[in-house]
Amino acid sequence: MAARIVPGASEDLATAYRRLNAAYQQTLRYAEDVRRLYQQVQRSIYQSLLGLANALEAKDPYTRGHSERVGAVSRSLAQALGLSAPEAETIGQAGLLHDIGKIGVPEAVLRKRGALEPDEWELMRRHPLIGAQIVAPFEFFAAGALTIRHHHERCDGDGYPDGLVGEAIPLGARIVAVVDVFDALTSDRPYRAALPRDEALEHLRGQAGRTLDARIVTAFLELARELPLAEPNVGDRAPLAPGRTIALR
Ligand SMILES: [Fe+2]
Repeated sequence: MAARIVPGASEDLATAYRRLNAAYQQTLRYAEDVRRLYQQVQRSIYQSLLGLANALEAKDPYTRGHSERVGAVSRSLAQALGLSAPEAETIGQAGLLHDIGKIGVPEAVLRKRGALEPDEWELMRRHPLIGAQIVAPFEFFAAGALTIRHHHERCDGDGYPDGLVGEAIPLGARIVAVVDVFDALTSDRPYRAALPRDEALEHLRGQAGRTLDARIVTAFLELARELPLAEPNVGDRAPLAPGRTIALR
């Protein structure tokens, strides 16, 4: 049976379509507003975390600039490894905040020039967990929290806090670990002087496939050709003796 044409029906239909379209456009605008607000909230939370990171650097001047460098280089390394822009951004932010848990470590331990006693190590080794707890309330940063928690894991299972092995360690944490080790080695610390850049790179080569992820070390060595040279400043601290075990805090 042929459809009955009701007079005025096509006009009603056109009006309904216009209304529907207007409502759809309005929804898109709301969605865009919500997206912008969400980004603003994320940015302000991130700024607050940055404030905390700065407070940490005030407490532990030897790490001044370390967090920023680890953040920036981790982001570049993640990009070089082919990760997406948002993934690289999260890893960069986690790199920036990786030591934020040191805010919960007593200054006397952070600034100690000599070797740490076992109970002091115990306090120091808590910082990845404290850091992960600090950022835990921010759901959008869950991957970053995992990176912070695991940045001291070692591929051979000898790290902390969980003794994870190889690829069980989140990729972001394996990336930050390589950058962290390099930057720590080429910086003065209260307990030892900086290593020259080439020696630090040699150390990384030696750790590839042992404590550090070999593929990530290879990508880092490529990237390191473009990194600015770290000039060691030995000061009044004894330089690291050749062959001595390097214990990073
Ligand atoms: Fe750390």
